[in-house]
Amino acid sequence: MFLGVDVGTGGTRAVLIDRADRLIASHAAEHAPIRSEHIGWAEQDPEDWWRAAREAITGAMAASGLAGNEIEAVGLTGQMHGCVMLDASGNVLRPALIWCDQRTQPECDWLTEKIGFERLIELTCNPALPNFTLTKLLWVRKHQPEIFSKIAHVLCPKDYVRYRMTGEFAMDMQEASGTLLLDVAHRRWSTEVAEAAGIPMQWLPRLFEGPEICARISEAGAGATGLAAGTPVAAGAGDQGAGAVGMGILAPGSVSATIGTSGVVFAATDSPAKDRLGRLHTFCHAAPGRWHVMGVTNGAGLSLRYFRDTFAIGMNYDELSALAATAPAGSDGLMWTPYLFGERTPHLDPNARAAFVGITASHTRAHFVRAVLEGVAFSLRDTFTLFEELHVPVKAIRLGGGGARGPLWRQIQADVYGQPVEILEAEEGGAFGAALLAGTGVGAWSNVEEACAATVRVASTVAPKDAATMNAAYKQYRRIYPALKEIAKA
Ligand code: XUL
Repeated sequence: MFLGVDVGTGGTRAVLIDRADRLIASHAAEHAPIRSEHIGWAEQDPEDWWRAAREAITGAMAASGLAGNEIEAVGLTGQMHGCVMLDASGNVLRPALIWCDQRTQPECDWLTEKIGFERLIELTCNPALPNFTLTKLLWVRKHQPEIFSKIAHVLCPKDYVRYRMTGEFAMDMQEASGTLLLDVAHRRWSTEVAEAAGIPMQWLPRLFEGPEICARISEAGAGATGLAAGTPVAAGAGDQGAGAVGMGILAPGSVSATIGTSGVVFAATDSPAKDRLGRLHTFCHAAPGRWHVMGVTNGAGLSLRYFRDTFAIGMNYDELSALAATAPAGSDGLMWTPYLFGERTPHLDPNARAAFVGITASHTRAHFVRAVLEGVAFSLRDTFTLFEELHVPVKAIRLGGGGARGPLWRQIQADVYGQPVEILEAEEGGAFGAALLAGTGVGAWSNVEEACAATVRVASTVAPKDAATMNAAYKQYRRIYPALKEIAKA
C-alpha cells in the first residue's frame, strides 16, 4: 500500500492505493482561509498544513482499516512556490507567502535588473515572477529584515510537511524548479542565482528526483500520523508534476489541461524547452531525465467559484453548469477574462484584471456562467498557442481537475482547443501521482513510466462540436487584454 499526500491550497488530501492501483481510501481536511491583509497578498500558516495533513492521513488510515506498518511508502505533493522560512531550530518564522501572492513585482524587477532577463532564463529556464519562491524571500529581506536575519532553512509547503513527518530538509527537482533558484537544465541549485540574489546556499534543502526515497518517518512523525517509524518517504513533486504522473503525461506529445483553482496546460518534453520571452514555465519533470513546459491561468476554477459566491449565492456547481448549458456556444458574444489574480501565461502581468465584456440586455445569468467557463478555456488555449510557436508537440490532450468532471466544461474545452480531449477512468489528482512516485521509489514499478502504464487508463474521448464558433470567439477574446490593459489594472 502506498500513501500520497497532497498539501493543496484549500485543503490537504491523503489517498491510499494498492499495487493494482485500486483506491483503498482517501480523506481530505480543509485549511484555514488564505490570509490577505492587502490586495494581492496571500499567506497561510504552515502549522495549519501540518494539522490538516495529520487529519487527512489519520482519516484515510482509519477509513482503510490498515495498520501503520502496512504502508510501504509515502509520497508528497502540494501547492507549489510557497515560501516557508524556518530558523536554525526548525521553527516557522512567519506565515508562508504562497503561490498566488502577487506583492513581489518590485523584487522581480530588481532581480531581473541584477542578473539580466536573458541570463536568468539561461540559468533557470524561467523569468522572475511574483509567484516564484525566491522573489518572496527578497520581499522579506527588504520589508522584514529582523525575520530574514533569522532564516536558516527555506522549504516549499509539502516539504515543510515532510520536515514535520521525518525531520529532514529535502525537495524534489520539479518543486525546486518553481523556486527560481534551480539550474533546471542541469538539475542542481544555481549558485550564480543564489549569489546574485544574496541567498546563502546552506538555506536550501537537499535535492532528489521525484521517486527517490529521501527520508523516513520519524518517531515524532509516527506519533502524529499513525504511520510506522522508518516508513520510506519519496521526494514527490509539486502538484503539477505529481498531477502529470497521475495522468500519465510523461512522453513528448502528451499534454494535460487541468482546471483546479488555477488552470494549467502541461506538456512533457525530453529536454528543457525554454521560451526566450519567459511566458511558459520550463521545469524538471517528476520523472527523472524528463522536463515539462506549462502555462498557468491564475484564476481558472477560481473564476467559477468567485462567480458563484458573488453572483449566484446558494447555487452549486451542477446547477450552474446546467444553467450554462442553456446558453449557446460563444455566449452570444459575452466574454470573460479570468484575471482575478493578475495573469501568468501569456501576459506575465500581476496587474491584469478580470472583466466581462460585451454585455447586452439580452444576456441572462446562463450566458454569464457559460462565458466564465469559456473564458477560462480561452485562457488555457493561450498556452496551446504558445506551444505551437515553440514547436512543443501536442498529440493527445487529457483533462483533469474540476474542468474534467462535468460534460459541459469538457465539451467547451474540446471546442476551444479544437481537438478531441481524453477523460481518464480515475482522476485522483496530485495525491495519486505522489503515491505512484512512492511506489516507484520502493520498487513496486521499475520506473515512473511503468507505474503510469500500469495504472492510468483513458475512459472516454470528447470530440469538438462547435470548434469553428469557438475559434472565432477566441480571436475576439485575444483582443480584450491589450485593449483593457491600461484601463483595468491595480
Ligand atoms: C503552479 C502553480 C499552481 C500552484 C497551486 O505553477 O502555481 O499549480 O501549485 O496549485
